[in-house]
Amino acid sequence: MRKNELVTVAITDMTFDGAGIGHVEEAGRKVPIFVRAAAVGDTVECRVIKVLKNYAVGIISRILTPSPHRIDPACAVAEKCGGCAFCHVSYEGELSYKTQSVRQAYKLNYPHEIAVADCRPSPLECGYRNKIQLPLSPDGTFGFYSLHSHRVIPSEGCLAAHPAFLPLQKAVEEWISRNNLTPYDEETQKGLIRHLFLRRGHHSGETMLCLVLNSSRRPADFPVEDLKKSLGQRSDLKSVWLNFNPKKTNVILGESFELLWGEERIEDTMNGVKFFISPRSFYQINTAQAERIYAHAASYLSPEDVLLDLYCGIGTIGLTCAKKVKEVIGIEVIEAAIEDAKENARRNGIENARFFAADAAKTLEILAALPQKPTAVIVDPPRKGLSADAVAALKEIAPEKIVYISCNPATQARDLALLKDAYIPGEVTPYDMFPRTGHVESLVCLQRQTN
Ligand SMILES: C[S@@+](CC[C@H](N)C(=O)[O-])C[C@H]1O[C@@H](n2cnc3c(N)ncnc32)[C@H](O)[C@@H]1O
Repeated sequence: MRKNELVTVAITDMTFDGAGIGHVEEAGRKVPIFVRAAAVGDTVECRVIKVLKNYAVGIISRILTPSPHRIDPACAVAEKCGGCAFCHVSYEGELSYKTQSVRQAYKLNYPHEIAVADCRPSPLECGYRNKIQLPLSPDGTFGFYSLHSHRVIPSEGCLAAHPAFLPLQKAVEEWISRNNLTPYDEETQKGLIRHLFLRRGHHSGETMLCLVLNSSRRPADFPVEDLKKSLGQRSDLKSVWLNFNPKKTNVILGESFELLWGEERIEDTMNGVKFFISPRSFYQINTAQAERIYAHAASYLSPEDVLLDLYCGIGTIGLTCAKKVKEVIGIEVIEAAIEDAKENARRNGIENARFFAADAAKTLEILAALPQKPTAVIVDPPRKGLSADAVAALKEIAPEKIVYISCNPATQARDLALLKDAYIPGEVTPYDMFPRTGHVESLVCLQRQTN
């Protein structure tokens, strides 16, 4: 294959970021070619744009036979924006890909038999995101970064985001233009407005708005009153913040905040328990699907259980399970999240839950000082999965069951293999938390081996 050559490719697989994978015969070997926005089942003519030692990259020049799963993207910026991978594939096709990707992750990382169920769809395919963070483009409109770059693609409403966000976005854009406020430029590090952060309680509708400024404090002439005039009519807007981030960094939020008006936290419920969420809190993006996952995890618990919620965040899993078990112990490394978890327990009148700010590696030390040993553990670690210390701690605690919720099936499969001598896994259930993106969650319950 040479750069700019046209080749015909049958697409047989996909990557998590929505590229189709096919193969081209070359000197007796099949060279993989990655084709952006192609779908499994397509036959495409594509132009080769890059040739490397073991693979090539192409772009579609013509679709010769469309996949039965191919659809016209509903989003106007699907081709340019880096947020979604599956705008060109039917939801059925996307779920089938997600099921296959979890099965493949287990095949590669768990060298034993295991059943993987079909991926459970999200209750909402569109409008499921309860939080968005939009960078400001040089022309003063908010948008999303394009794939693999920091070029802002202006967005007139993301289909994944809750529709209530768009009027707020528009009102802030008008306020920026009216007050001649400048967009932040990453190159020069000049300009004031970096991001607009919006968050909405799925059940409550309570909304939080936070403007991220390239500044270490509020500028003296910052037009707060005009912002109030622009947004003040919205009764759902409960909490308006400034965040200060003067650093040259990709991290969106800086360290300090100022509450401009309203409440410090918005309230929402998950499976009937109230949660109070600050701009810093980790809160699951797709509330309706997270509730289903939590209910699934809770179905393995019984009233005699002492539950350890490891990597507990603001306590959402443990607190929604608290009524079902004797006691909940939550451990999480971020102190602010543990403060939120304690406050959430207090405001809900939950008295059988205790929370500890610590690295998961310190689990055994924390448990040693407590009267009761966990009989059940729910782990929900970040993408890198369990640390070696956490795996060793689980073996030492030896609870009857471990429910493992994961946002990365590859590390989940690896960890199950590490626990295999002590625990037998049941069926793995993939859950689609992020329709249109390549991410997939999975849940599995492990039972302690009896001999
Ligand atoms: C996927 S989130 C799950 C949060 C929570 N269970 C939920 O559903 O909202 C993973 C959590 O693990 C925490 N975390 C990351 N590394 C940790 C560590 N080494 N020890 C303890 N917690 C950690 C993160 O701060 C984050 O809150």
